[in-house]
Amino acid sequence: MIQNSHLYKTKAYINGDFIATSSQREFPIYNPSNQELVANVVNCDTILAEKAIESAQKALNPWKSLSGMERSNILRKWFELHLKYIDELAQILTLEQGKPLHEAKGEIHYGASFIEWFAEEAKRVYGDTIPGHLPDKRIVVIKQPIGVVAAITPWNFPNAMITRKVAPALAAGCTVIIKPSELTPLSALSLGQLANEAGFPKGVFNVIPTLEAQQIGETLCQNPTIKKLSFTGSTQVGKLLMQQSASTVKKLSLELGGNAPFIVFEDADIDQAVHAAIISKFRNAGQTCVCANRIFVHSDVYQEFSKKLIQKVKNLKVGDGFEPDVDIGPLISEEAIEFIDDLVEDALLGGAKIFRGPKVKRKKKSLFYDPIVLTDVTSNMKIFHNEIFGPVAPLFKFSNEKEVIELANNTPYGLASYFFGKDHSKIWRVSEQLEYGMVGINTGMISTTVAPFGGIKQSGFGKEGSKYGIEDYIITKYLSWSI
Ligand code: SIN
Repeated sequence: MIQNSHLYKTKAYINGDFIATSSQREFPIYNPSNQELVANVVNCDTILAEKAIESAQKALNPWKSLSGMERSNILRKWFELHLKYIDELAQILTLEQGKPLHEAKGEIHYGASFIEWFAEEAKRVYGDTIPGHLPDKRIVVIKQPIGVVAAITPWNFPNAMITRKVAPALAAGCTVIIKPSELTPLSALSLGQLANEAGFPKGVFNVIPTLEAQQIGETLCQNPTIKKLSFTGSTQVGKLLMQQSASTVKKLSLELGGNAPFIVFEDADIDQAVHAAIISKFRNAGQTCVCANRIFVHSDVYQEFSKKLIQKVKNLKVGDGFEPDVDIGPLISEEAIEFIDDLVEDALLGGAKIFRGPKVKRKKKSLFYDPIVLTDVTSNMKIFHNEIFGPVAPLFKFSNEKEVIELANNTPYGLASYFFGKDHSKIWRVSEQLEYGMVGINTGMISTTVAPFGGIKQSGFGKEGSKYGIEDYIITKYLSWSI
């Protein structure tokens, strides 16, 4: 039983120890597949949050004084422990988040890959020399860690969205406090146990689960010791955190909502596009910020694409993430289902047609949701403007490049986008015209450690992963030297 694992922790991880609040405050975690109680987890108050900040501050100087090579070695051990305990980490993840076990394992690999990558980058935080502007001037640029970092992380990737922020921060020489989602704190806490085993000094990495997201968020934003806040979540909350961080002029990285266009041009390889649409749309039950949200298909290939997509969707298996061969686990909450139902209903009222995947027998309050393809969807429907965050694929018909670029860009969001076609000139044109931070060309899967993940417009700013990812945790200082 996974509850017996040494990685199964329910207390806050502060200064290298797992601790409770003085008043034993806790909150429940439920398995979204069956609504059974999984654990009661410490509900951190501002006193514990302040304690975590203090411990991160105390740990900062010794940690940043280590050489990049020394920090790299500890990160490398953390990475290896991830792989050693991949089965247990994946089980904890599926238990609290619901995604199929094979996807959970995929996420642990993905999460670990950020640690491996930034363990290497820790050795390569290079400065610069600049020829002086006067004969006696020497100019040197040095890079230093920004300081104590706070990260507020989401429930859809309870492991990887933490490591993607923490690994570059620790590599740079920063110390970190994580406030994980109140729905998935167990994965975050298991990282604390592995941090101890890897040999991180006390206070370098801290995890504070809480049900009081608003209050603790405010504490993190307004505390002057914290020099940088990284957040993945909704645009609405991102805007609030930005406002709250203004008083301390905190550096921010925000990875916010998306409304990804997925364009299938008339010269696309349709089988390739259908395969990619399944991956992009239904990964994590459609609960990713980069999921295809609006699928635009050229009128010449609309029939063929929609027929093939519907056929594939009919074969998707919905169920408990621990069952074998499951493709789609439960959604995260009743509210998510109500929100998606409302979008689907609005589309149907406007004339869209619905094709459902295999019916799952729903018990009362079940969070399983049959995957859906909607055809004949138009831009005046709610679904065009909202991030669905669920297994619904709306298909829009278009007839020319100019029209589809306008439609694709007609959103305040600018995170991921995708298109399929073969003409090389068009590939360049469309890539340059799409107002998005990331463009997938003939692929539905763009997420990787080695590339800069991040959005533009109201999808936020800052890059995660790749050689750019560490920049967000570094300050650039210039030394002007008269000889
Ligand atoms: C997200 O949904 O925020 C991240 C998805 C990914 O990294 O692929």
